[in-house]
Amino acid sequence: MKFAGKVAIVTGAAQGIGRACAVRLLADGAKVVLADVNVEVLEKTAAEIGTADTVLAVKTDVSVVAEVDALVASAVSAFGQLDIMVNNAGIAPILDWLDVTEEIFDRTMNVNLKGAFFGTQAAARQMIAQGGGGVIVNMSSINSGLANPSVATYAISKGGMNQVTSTAAVAFAEHGIRVVGVGPGTIMTEMIKGAFISDAGNQAILSRTPLGRYGEPSEIASVVSFLASDDASYITGETIYPDGGRRVLNYTVPVKE
Ligand code: NAI
Repeated sequence: MKFAGKVAIVTGAAQGIGRACAVRLLADGAKVVLADVNVEVLEKTAAEIGTADTVLAVKTDVSVVAEVDALVASAVSAFGQLDIMVNNAGIAPILDWLDVTEEIFDRTMNVNLKGAFFGTQAAARQMIAQGGGGVIVNMSSINSGLANPSVATYAISKGGMNQVTSTAAVAFAEHGIRVVGVGPGTIMTEMIKGAFISDAGNQAILSRTPLGRYGEPSEIASVVSFLASDDASYITGETIYPDGGRRVLNYTVPVKE
């Protein structure tokens, strides 16, 4: 129970990777505050994975700073402190570069980038106020550093998120707060089922994934658990990529048919 006595917040926790992170942090002994805009699924998830003693569901839109601040306040009010903040909520609009509208651009930046920035700020303020220490984990993506024009706003927001991670890591190091990122490859969640349902999409990804399969949400949660633990006590400012080998695959290596 490496997180016994610790309190965590996971945003975007109703389903997918966020839910898996919440399940894992609970199993590791933390009390977990689950935040999401989808209140129906959020409350169902909270009831399924924990009890009133161990989980709290807080409806939160991470693109609204006042709601993020209120989320941290709710966590402290319910469980007394905040030790681990997982900024995981995200959206991934898929459309051609020339079809991106101002509304889609703003929405993607507001949820993915602004949400992570102010989630980091709110968490750091609380961690400093309670005497320092704590870990902030930002859920980035393999697309933070790869060019796929059909998810341009998403890729741009995740590239920016990596700089939220690195600048905050330096800003808060003196308080003993570590800030780290996780950049998954393709994990079979609702986000991906909506995006790459076609055989061609599957083939394009799997042919370039050396481990030859999609990742499981639990395989991302285990990296979050490691990074949030003292086993990662000398890692800060870095984004780690659990991606089945996709990012390092040299383009000169023939793809599998
Ligand atoms: P998902 O779509 O299954 O879950 C995302 C959750 O975030 C949903 O419950 C949704 O309601 C919530 N959410 C959306 N907007 C929100 C907002 N404004 N405020 C609060 N909650 C909000 O997606 P998945 O796959 O679990 O993704 C989680 C994170 O992992 C995202 O940041 C995503 O970019 C990242 N990621 C996912 C990958 C994948 O292959 N599934 C790959 C790389 C990164």
